[in-house]
Formats: sequence, structure tokens, C-alpha cells
Amino acid sequence: MSESTRLPIILDCDPGHDDAIAIVVAAAHADLLGITTVAGNAPLELTTRNALIVTDLLGLTETPVHSGASRPLVAEAKHADYVHGESGIDGADLPEPTRAVTSADAVEFIIETCRATEGTWLVATGPMTNVALALRSANDLAGRLGGISLMGGGSFGNRTAAAEFNMWADPEAAAIVFDFGGPLIMSGLDLTHQFQATPERIDLVRALPGRLAGVLADLFVFFSGTYVQRSDNLTGAPVHDPCAVLALTHPRLFERRHRRVQVETSGALTRGMTLIDERGLRERPDPNCAVQVGLDADAAFDVVVQAIASFSH
Ligand code: RIB
Ligand code: CA
Repeated sequence: MSESTRLPIILDCDPGHDDAIAIVVAAAHADLLGITTVAGNAPLELTTRNALIVTDLLGLTETPVHSGASRPLVAEAKHADYVHGESGIDGADLPEPTRAVTSADAVEFIIETCRATEGTWLVATGPMTNVALALRSANDLAGRLGGISLMGGGSFGNRTAAAEFNMWADPEAAAIVFDFGGPLIMSGLDLTHQFQATPERIDLVRALPGRLAGVLADLFVFFSGTYVQRSDNLTGAPVHDPCAVLALTHPRLFERRHRRVQVETSGALTRGMTLIDERGLRERPDPNCAVQVGLDADAAFDVVVQAIASFSH
């Protein structure tokens, strides 16, 4: 039986098909204080629009959505339309947003909310530009956080052979996050590739009543289609981003290893790589991260299905 604890969280994301599912799980199982958006899968105006659409679909019109960084700290903004489509969330008939963004200052929202609610967790499922800017802008923030749970990195890449997209898009921001000194949980590709939206799992979503389930099933079909078309060994899209939420709401579903993880920011071939120190040394470097290495995928996807069901009526 997986536990569910309602921790206070801010979800920083770049919707994004899997970010949309992360919003559903966070709204169902956490105290979702707000959503902040960042450029990543698509330009900022689209990831923000997509976050507003998803909160509309869930009836979360009281959950604030604050937009943030439109580009990384140093790199040029690069996107992932080859996976998520031009809109960042292609594949379904989606409504127009019914409301405007709450503010364009995600960093201020993160800082002020974490000062007001000690122990808030930041869940980062896109490039970590907003989180890094908040950590750098407020030197008290790190000590006030419950921690940071992120989706990104791994022992292999997807945007390059070495770098996963969220790390690759803004390595300087990722390096700041991995050095922040507080509790850090990493859900990288080694984990998320064990959690695929197979046709059988998508059918479980499709079978739910109501419009939301149909829309999310359509999004899963598109998302999986782009992954399966591009990959030799996937039968569905890795459902990356909800893992960073489930790490907090259903921790018993996961197996973790404590490791020292560093982010490469200057390698010509390895920029954005997360270097996970797996050496079996007695004097190993102090770990800075709990790396999620395994999960009960069926149980985790059942949590996703039930979370969708809880908003389907
Ligand atoms: O590499 C996968 C990550 O990049 C996910 O967060 C996905 O949404 C994209 O942002
Ligand atoms: Ca994402």
C-alpha cells in the first residue's frame, strides 16, 4: 500500500505532456501552493498557456500560475517540439485558457511562498532556471525548504548521448540546484525509462469516465507516438515528470541510492551531463542527492490513473 502525505509543494514546470500529468498528481496528493512556469519544452508563453489550460481542465482555478524565466541563465533558449509538438502539448483538442497568469514573477512567488510556509518542497520538472534564480536571489531560501525533488539527469542522456533535456537546457542552473546543500531527490532517465506509458496503461486512462480522461489519453497517445517513433526500445513514452512528485507523495514506490552528483557545464561533448559517483570507495565523496533508481511501475501508474479519476466527473 503506497502512502500519500500532503506536503506543501511548488511545481516548477514546462508543460509538456508529462508535466501535465505531474500537475494532476500534485493536485491530487500534495498541498499544491502554486505552479511556476519556465521555458523548456516550448517557449515560456506556451508552457505558461499550457499550465493554465491544465489547471482549467482540473478545475484548479484558485491555484496560482506564475510565469518565470523565458531563457536559461547562460545558454540560448532551446525547445523540444520534436517530442511535444509546436504547442508544447500537441495531440488533444484543448480549450483556450479561461484566466490570465497570476504574475510574471515566478522567482518572487517561490521566495515569498517558501518564507511564508517553512518546509515547502520545490518540485522541478523542467530546466531549473527559476529555481536557481530563487536560490541565488534569497540566501535564506535553501534553509527554509523541505527540499528539492527534480526530474532530470541520469547515467545517460536523451538530448545528447550524455545530457538529459532539463539539464542540457540550463546546465548552470542545474549545477546551482545540485550544490544547494539541502535535501535533494533526483528522478533521472534510469528511473523514468522504467515507467512507460504503454498502450495497455493508456487504455486504463481512456477507460475512465469524463472528458478529462479522454483528453489526457489523447495526450499520452501523442507523447508515446513521438517517443516510440524515435526509439528502438521503448513501447511507450517514459512518464518522466510525475516521478518527481510521486517521490514525495508515494516514496515507498521507489528505490533510492545516496550519491554525489555533479553537473558538467563546460564539456564540449558532455555539457549538461549529471556525473553520478558510483565508485565503491570507503572514502567516497559525501552524497548530495538521493538518486531514484527503481520503482513499482504498475503501482505508480495506478496512482496516476486514480489521480486522473479523482478529477474526472
Ligand atoms: O528529459 C525529459 C524532461 O524534459 C521532461 O521533464 C520533459 O517534460 C522535458 O521537459
Ligand atoms: Ca518537463
